[in-house]
Amino acid sequence: MSLDLAIIGGTGLYNFPGLEKMEKRTVETPYGPASDAITLGELGGKRVAFLARHASGHSIPPHRINYRANVWALHSLGATRVLGVNAVGGIRADMGPRAIAVPDQIIDYTHGRLTSFCDADGVKVEHIDFTEPYSAGLRSAVLAAAQRAGIAVVDGGCYGATQGPRLETRAEIARMRRDGCDLVGMTGMPEAALARELKLGYACLAVVANWAAGCPQGNAAPEISLPEIFAHLEAATAKIPPIVSALLS
Ligand code: HPA
Repeated sequence: MSLDLAIIGGTGLYNFPGLEKMEKRTVETPYGPASDAITLGELGGKRVAFLARHASGHSIPPHRINYRANVWALHSLGATRVLGVNAVGGIRADMGPRAIAVPDQIIDYTHGRLTSFCDADGVKVEHIDFTEPYSAGLRSAVLAAAQRAGIAVVDGGCYGATQGPRLETRAEIARMRRDGCDLVGMTGMPEAALARELKLGYACLAVVANWAAGCPQGNAAPEISLPEIFAHLEAATAKIPPIVSALLS
């Protein structure tokens, strides 16, 4: 069986609207269970798999997600391209709440996560090339799809992956800005690297939920309010299905 697209939904995206002929699959992997049952279905006649990264009731925090099981499970169901939808905080001026970005770089600040499938005695060690952490082909297809769907997205940006589940301090975000990060999220890694290990196409649709701590730069730093985050996320996440439909058409 092959799939046209696998989608990993993040905070605010726990099922995918518009999927037809749905069927749920619980997939066992050598790395344990995936976050949740995977929904298989059709969108515009194309075969799609959907997995909620945090599980449907948002019960799994970013540092406890079994990224290996998730990526392995989608691969085992026939996925060759994976679109990660990730809620983020915006650091760069054009990445304020409700913006959507398709990042092109990553800096990984996470720690203690299981980051590779090359992790057991006797397994062949592979040093994947990760110069460009997202797949060029899938990135351009997503950008073109957004344009066809009439939805503005920011092309490029560096995704800084933090450990969570707490949000960052102002100083941490200032350092990330100096490092060159434009967005901050907790779930972009090791998902992207694991997808590369399995030779899957992988791109990220980053949905900006809030200004990162102390942003926009130069403004008084307001506290980040959770209700605001959820309101922004709901509004921005509504723009994801039309992009995906255009991607599949
Ligand atoms: N920081 C890290 N992850 C996030 C944020 C943030 O400000 N907003 C949404 N996910």
